[in-house]
Amino acid sequence: MTTSSSSAVENSFLKKYWKQSLIVLAISLICVSLFYFKQDENNTYILKTLELNGSIKEGDSLFKMNCVGCHGITARGLVGPDLHSITQRLNDNEIIKQVIEGLTPPMPSFEIDPQNMSNLLKYLHTLN
Ligand code: HEC
Repeated sequence: MTTSSSSAVENSFLKKYWKQSLIVLAISLICVSLFYFKQDENNTYILKTLELNGSIKEGDSLFKMNCVGCHGITARGLVGPDLHSITQRLNDNEIIKQVIEGLTPPMPSFEIDPQNMSNLLKYLHTLN
């Protein structure tokens, strides 16, 4: 009698425990797949950007519109760091991620299409 009631308690405990584990597992799976989906999206974006041949002139004006507030009109740095020789310190992949991912606040993430990203990158390559 005692055994059966304690196993009933154990049973319901196990059921509850399993339910919670399944929920936690499902949530983790969703997070992991969202993460990979985002990574994949970013990788496609980067590949597309690197295939294009950007325009320095367009990149220059994009920089003047979006970046000078923090990096300075001559990109010598203000709130944000000096971006001269940035292309020697960071590779194109890292620069693109820096611009689109917003991983280092206060620098925001920019929603910029691959053509404009390519223009911007081309411009940054001229800052030696
Ligand atoms: C609101 C201010 C702000 C704006 C606008 C901004 N940045 Fe930044 N940026 C920063 C700050 C601050 C950092 C330094 C982050 C850190 O500490 O790692 C940074 C870092 C960077 C870096 C990496 C520098 C390094 O030495 O690692 C690059 C490249 C960069 N910014 C490019 C850009 C470009 C291109 C734009 C325009 C599309 C832009 N930023 C707009 C504030 C800004």
